[in-house]
Amino acid sequence: MCKSVFITATGTDIGKTFISGLLLKKLYALGHKAGYYKAVLSGSVKTEKGLLPEDVNYIKNFVPLECPPETMFSYAYEQALSPHLAAKLEGMPARLEKIIQDYKKISEQYTYVVVEGCGGAVCPIRYDQTKIFLTDIIRQLNLSVLVVAHTTLGTINATVLTIEYLKGQKIPIRGILCNRYHPDNFMEQDNIHMIRELTGIPIVACVQADAEDLQMNAEVLLSLFQ
Ligand SMILES: Nc1ncnc2c1ncn2[C@@H]1O[C@H](COP(=O)(O)OP(=O)(O)O)[C@@H](O)[C@H]1O
Ligand SMILES: [Mg+2]
Repeated sequence: MCKSVFITATGTDIGKTFISGLLLKKLYALGHKAGYYKAVLSGSVKTEKGLLPEDVNYIKNFVPLECPPETMFSYAYEQALSPHLAAKLEGMPARLEKIIQDYKKISEQYTYVVVEGCGGAVCPIRYDQTKIFLTDIIRQLNLSVLVVAHTTLGTINATVLTIEYLKGQKIPIRGILCNRYHPDNFMEQDNIHMIRELTGIPIVACVQADAEDLQMNAEVLLSLFQ
């Protein structure tokens, strides 16, 4: 039976892919068969086999996943725009049925799957006569989320708003992971303390810049997956 976690963040470029890579690396180091799935990605490179999402490319180069890259995502748009806008410009609007089917295929092959979201928690995936938001995908796949946040100035606001939105959407939250943390910075230490205070959600790890490994004990790591 496969267990998964959905990685979201307080915004774009916060470190979802970077952290997904570290999670997968750690799972492999512990001897677990782990996979990666990204439902929708805007920002892709053109290859002979079609569009290859940059995140999938990064993960493929970072961890030795067996499955072919084209099975690791459902929709790839070339331009780095909000998916709903990329879909309008490039065609191929997302369908939840396909996402559920592709995710099922991946989860049949692995014990653990890291599912990466796109953008932050509020992300329109399709906005025509059919409306799909990122939270619809999380709900349809029946997943809990791990929220990646920065520790720098402004993160209290961004993280608390993200958590409040997810709570409002009734999305189960497993934890917050603080990325690009500088342990000797007193403001960042206080930011982490305040985020914990104001959200009531556990901080599962703090990851420093250029970290090569995830400092998290195996029990905590596996408890993120459901
Ligand atoms: N802890 C970190 N140390 C060094 N670089 C990082 C770290 N976290 C993220 N990055 C870099 O920041 C950029 C954005 O991170 P990424 O994981 O792609 O964000 P997201 O997936 O949330 O859009 C990438 O170039 C990534 O390598
Ligand atoms: Mg990413």
